[in-house]
Amino acid sequence: MSSDRIYVFDTTLRDGEQVPGCQLNTIEKIQVARALEELGVDVIEAGFPVSSPGDFTSVVEISKNVTWPVICALSRAVEKDIEVAAEALKHAKRGRIHTGIGTSDYHIKYKLSSTQDKILERAVAAVKFASKLVSDVEFYAEDAGRTGNEYLARVIEAVIKAGATVVNIPDTTGYCLPGEYGEKIRYLKENVRGIHKVTISTHCHNDLGMATANTVSGVLNGARQIEVTVNGIGERAGNTSLEEVVMTLKSHKELNLKTNVNTQMILKTSRLVSNLMNMPVQPNKAIVGRNAFAHSSGIHQDGVLKHRENYEIIDPREIGLTESAILLTARSGRAALKHRLKLLGYELSKEKLDQVYEEFLLLADRKKDIRDEDIALLVGEMHHEDHRIKLDFLQVVTGKNLKPMATVRLNISGELFDATASGNGPVDAAIKAVQKIITRKIILEEFLIQAITGGSDDVGKVHMQIEHDKMIYYGFGANTDIITASVEAYLDGVNKIKNHINPS
Ligand code: KIV
Ligand code: ZN
Repeated sequence: MSSDRIYVFDTTLRDGEQVPGCQLNTIEKIQVARALEELGVDVIEAGFPVSSPGDFTSVVEISKNVTWPVICALSRAVEKDIEVAAEALKHAKRGRIHTGIGTSDYHIKYKLSSTQDKILERAVAAVKFASKLVSDVEFYAEDAGRTGNEYLARVIEAVIKAGATVVNIPDTTGYCLPGEYGEKIRYLKENVRGIHKVTISTHCHNDLGMATANTVSGVLNGARQIEVTVNGIGERAGNTSLEEVVMTLKSHKELNLKTNVNTQMILKTSRLVSNLMNMPVQPNKAIVGRNAFAHSSGIHQDGVLKHRENYEIIDPREIGLTESAILLTARSGRAALKHRLKLLGYELSKEKLDQVYEEFLLLADRKKDIRDEDIALLVGEMHHEDHRIKLDFLQVVTGKNLKPMATVRLNISGELFDATASGNGPVDAAIKAVQKIITRKIILEEFLIQAITGGSDDVGKVHMQIEHDKMIYYGFGANTDIITASVEAYLDGVNKIKNHINPS
């Protein structure tokens, strides 16, 4: 059976960017627009050009920097707005003007002080005017969610006649129930002459937490474009979230509805938008929240480790996550601890695992969040003893106006190797000296130093993440001397590399 294409209209840079504190400069907007293009959205609403010179410039620059998606510019049903939108779009390979007006009784009476007939006339005039300037015109009936279906159908029929190519039915205030919103779309499909010539678009806000449900209901009743934002950002409680609808359609294969979104780019795009807009994603946010694929109870962890689909409806790799997180808490079982130890490079005998598990439970009772370095600390000491490569000697010369120099001696399977190096700082010098002995390509990915209790005589804990041959290894070191702790952490990681490291 052939599947129907659902067009994704992303309004992160327009409706999403209206959130106070989320404003982006033009360079950042281009960055987001390029990410959206890579993600595979069909339309990017790049701004509201008449609203500010910054928005105008952003639409111009995004039009120049993006190739494949349609670039859309918002306007009110006002000639000046429409002219400015057309001007901003002149570099777009494919440009669309999005014009419209409020159609609910609230908007007509209290916002526009007008009448239904006059609003219909203004809608038609705006679409006609825009159609002279661009070939692709989308009309929005603002607050369509609270607009009576009969009047809405009259407006939509009139704007289609006037040249609209897409008709947008916004639930501007997020008031509709999913059944009600779907019913509205069906009503328009069944009662508007010419509706089959245009695309019906959903645009739902999340005031009652139903934006995704309403959008899906709209699609099930005939809408073929969805207006969404990354992470669901937007006015008040936000807009429909792109990732939620896209993954709903992808997961429910029986619907035969496809988007062009490369879902493996979802997480990357979500993080980019969150970082640039200083808008953290709530941990339990569907699809992209930190906990969306994290399992913490022992029963769930055991179930997921036995067969992922026991507790997951989406393979995390589909959204660009390497794998589900098995969170370690006091409720975790041995299976979860063993799994995490394996990821960290530790393969323990049953007796050692039992011993570490007992210690882990004691720690988990005191500490809510058990991190990799805590696990490393639990097995660390006993593990370091087995290392093939050990630090035998370390001397560092450093100080103000002195280039730090380090001399290290490594004991590799009983044989001693010396090296000296300089570096930007004492740790850098010491690691460089080690690298002179161990010449394999090892990239230091992450380096974290923490004091255990806080005094200057404290033990410093160093956690390192290194990469070798596309594999990640974690290393841990603890010492009152942080340079020694750093070298030990590095060597701890190096010792976990299989096909063992040989000196030069
Ligand atoms: O929510 C809304 O009605 C809008 C329109 C301007 C499309 O954002
Ligand atoms: Zn909106």
